[in-house]
Amino acid sequence: MRLVGSRNAGRARDKLCGLRLAGLGQYFPASLPPLRVCEAGPLDFRWQNFYTLIPFHTMMIRIASAVLSLAGLLALVSGIAFWSGIGLNLLALHMLLGLLAVGALWTIGIGQAFSSSGSWIIAASALILGILTIAIGLYQSSLWVGALHWVIEVVHLTLGILTIGLGHMGAVRYRKSTAGSR
Ligand code: HEM
Repeated sequence: MRLVGSRNAGRARDKLCGLRLAGLGQYFPASLPPLRVCEAGPLDFRWQNFYTLIPFHTMMIRIASAVLSLAGLLALVSGIAFWSGIGLNLLALHMLLGLLAVGALWTIGIGQAFSSSGSWIIAASALILGILTIAIGLYQSSLWVGALHWVIEVVHLTLGILTIGLGHMGAVRYRKSTAGSR
């Protein structure tokens, strides 16, 4: 007998009870005593119970935090490589990674704006910082071209690091504020 998936949980229980009554109890593994399965009453698996275990917004913040770590780190490493003249053909990938990092920052910022113990300062800073990071990233090649171009490069690098830092600050704050509620 093989019943896979949450929808089959109730059917599996009924089947187990049926087999036990038919005298096949000795075939059940020790970790799953049939009597206990039957005594437990109907299995109550519902998706809303699952979401109560890990709320949707908590899951979103966790995913955003992971995306921010990965995309932010790869954008930083590829950007530093560009600085040394390496891998300039990967510029489009770098931009995509940077946009992903900013998207993750905005997701965390939205989490701060709508969570009861969130910070409006972090939420607003995330929005503004994200816009600045994308704007400077998109136009930096044509900004202050010449002897002072390094200033724009340093500004771009600083905004990128701030994007990663602020995002993680918001995610940690969110995690702490919801730690007791799960
Ligand atoms: C976490 C976010 C990011 C980090 C850490 C980061 C880091 C860097 C670094 C260190 C460089 C080399 C130095 C420089 O030219 O400034 C660079 C170059 C560059 N980045 Fe980013 N970046 C990020 C996001 C973005 C985004 C969102 C875009 C555009 C949408 C972008 C576009 C570019 C471009 C076009 C260059 C090459 C500029 C040139 O060679 O003139 N970056 N990045």
